[in-house]
Amino acid sequence: MMRRVLLAANWKMFKTVPAALAFGRELLRRYDADAYSAIDVMIFPTALALWPLSQRFAGSPIQIGAQNLDLGTEGAMTGALSGYLLREAGAEYVLVGHSERRQHFGEGDELVAAKVQAAISAHLHPILCVGETAEEREREETLAVMHRQIGAVLQGLATYDAIKLTVAYEPVWAIGSGKVPTARDANGVAAAIRHQFSEQFSSEVADSIRILYGGSVSPKNIREFAEAPDIDGALVGGASLDVETMVAMMESLVHQEGENGG
Ligand code: 13P
Repeated sequence: MMRRVLLAANWKMFKTVPAALAFGRELLRRYDADAYSAIDVMIFPTALALWPLSQRFAGSPIQIGAQNLDLGTEGAMTGALSGYLLREAGAEYVLVGHSERRQHFGEGDELVAAKVQAAISAHLHPILCVGETAEEREREETLAVMHRQIGAVLQGLATYDAIKLTVAYEPVWAIGSGKVPTARDANGVAAAIRHQFSEQFSSEVADSIRILYGGSVSPKNIREFAEAPDIDGALVGGASLDVETMVAMMESLVHQEGENGG
């Protein structure tokens, strides 16, 4: 099965609303619809910039997502943002279980699983983020950690909901560090994740879901990761904040597509 390559930009806690809009204007100016038709480009700005940026990208193929969601729909929940509110503000996707949420906000597997369900109820496509810490890698627990983090979410998920998932494999030690696993190692983890989907659901489901690599992705290395057979694109932090580097990564992916004949 041909899975479309996805470039997802996670802006984390960066960019004011005007800065996000300026980036959006420049990206649209540089966006070559013919050249980039083979890849999906997605931006995850702060929640504040969701609505204005979704307005800016309206009618373009660039999609918008939120970085996190809270449980519920509407209610007396000071400071919270539900999937419903994010969806109405223009988000189509949402990151769930990013390691920074797990680390700094104490999100555990159970809450992450509940958030995936909440995202699906709100008609958002969840991008489930998983990844091992440096210590876990040293103890050779990477695959066990993936199995636990993914298993918590898949358990209780119907097949028709499982196909809405994207998984982002982001080793915690690779995020913002300039360190990366080899594409071969990352692909091995992605293949194990895919295998878990095939065991829990079917090989069709496993084949259809997209698995991204994230952690110190740059224009220099993105192509190598995206060329790995079980990796379908990248979730990028730092390098996505600059339009130049963002376009350089899009170019790199497009050339890869061309050379593969697809
Ligand atoms: P960096 O690309 O800055 O390493 O961040 C990766 C990340 O956490 C994307 O979600």
